Parts: sequence; structure tokens; C-alpha cells
Amino acid sequence: MTDVVIMVSGGGTNLQALIDAKSRGKLPHVNLRAVVSSSSNAYAVTRAECAGIETVSLDIKGYSDRGQYTRDLCGLIRNYNPGLIVTAGFLYVLTPEFAEEFDGRVINIHPSLLPSFGGVGCYGIHVHEKALAAGVKVTGATVHYVTAIPDTGPIIAQKAVEVLDGDTPETLQQRVMREAEWVILPKAVEAFCIKNQVNQRQKGHNYDTFAS
Ligand code: GAR
Repeated sequence: MTDVVIMVSGGGTNLQALIDAKSRGKLPHVNLRAVVSSSSNAYAVTRAECAGIETVSLDIKGYSDRGQYTRDLCGLIRNYNPGLIVTAGFLYVLTPEFAEEFDGRVINIHPSLLPSFGGVGCYGIHVHEKALAAGVKVTGATVHYVTAIPDTGPIIAQKAVEVLDGDTPETLQQRVMREAEWVILPKAVEAFCIKNQVNQRQKGHNYDTFAS
């Protein structure tokens, strides 16, 4: 199994989708190792505790320097040596050091069909406000790799969701979560961990061949 660290800031419904998928036996290659929160008050922390997952909070409120916050967060996550890090509703932009340190091992769930409605200022409910203001008829969610520039990394999975007449940002957010985010995130996490395990085995095989 691959050790996965999940980074959260708020309600944690995407974390819950991972917890539920795990308890239904849908994530056999995934070990939900720890939840790292940017706020000790986040409901996501309660969800993790209820599921018996180790939690650690690094309160962003105590920091005036984003670089220092990023470095401290990296140090904390490094302790777990995770095979995968999932930013699941982690709503703060970190400095590029984060993506550089864990390059290729961080994936994010974003509530739109990127590259639409991504980047600075596009997070949480604001994404849906912007989608409605733009008058799009279809939106959705994206799972992608995290790189130094927010919301621009290679896309792993997307799912489209219809925008309905009379939608508010809140109704649209709920539908995007239910129909897209909670569906594609667990699948993408399991797929990553399967691939990770295959890669580890191949590495071991090469080493054995070389040693003999
Ligand atoms: C989710 O919709 C997630 O996609 C979004 O914040 C919400 C967090 O909800 N993330 C972003 O906007 C990242 N740019 P949750 O805490 O209930 O999972």
C-alpha cells in the first residue's frame, strides 16, 4: 500500500469521500496515513479523527510569511515520507518550494473544468460564482498534478456537470461535489497508488537483476 497524506482546510467532504471509499474496500492500494490541516478548527480534522486517521494541524493564522509556512509544512509532511499527497480542499497557495520538494507526488482536486476558472482567487465557492457569472452551461471538476503555478499541472481526470437554470453558487457547488469531485478523486488516488506500487516493484526487480 502507498502511504497517502491528505491536506485540508475546511469541511473535508473530499476527505470523507476517500474515507468512505476506503471503508467500502474501493482503495486496496491506499493507506490513509495522515491528515494535515491548515486550521485546527477545520471540520475535516473531526472527520479524520472519527475515522481513526492521525491528524496534525499547522495553523496558518500564526504566520505572516508564506515562505516560512510552506517550509514548516514541508518539514511536517516529510516526516511521513508519503508516496502521495492529496490537496483536498487545501485552500492556501504555498510557495513553489512545496511543489519542488514533492514533485510528481502531489495531486489536487479543483471544482471546475481546468483550465477554466483556475488560478489565484479561484477556490471554493468563488469558483462557482465565477462559473455562473460567465454563464457557462457545463462545469465540473478536475484532478491534476500540483506544480509551482496553481491549477496548471498535468490533468489526470475530469468530469463534467450540467449548470441548471436557477443554480446558485451553493447549489452548483453541491452538485459538482456530489456528481464529480467525490467520484473522480477516490478513483484517481487508487490509480496513482497502483501505478506507484508497480513502479516500486520494477525498481526492486531491476536492483535484484543488477545485484545477481
Ligand atoms: C472543494 O470543492 C474543492 O474542490 C475546493 O474546495 C472545496 C473544499 O471542500 N478546492 C479548491 O477550490 C482548490 N482550489 P471540502 O473541504 O468539503 O473537500
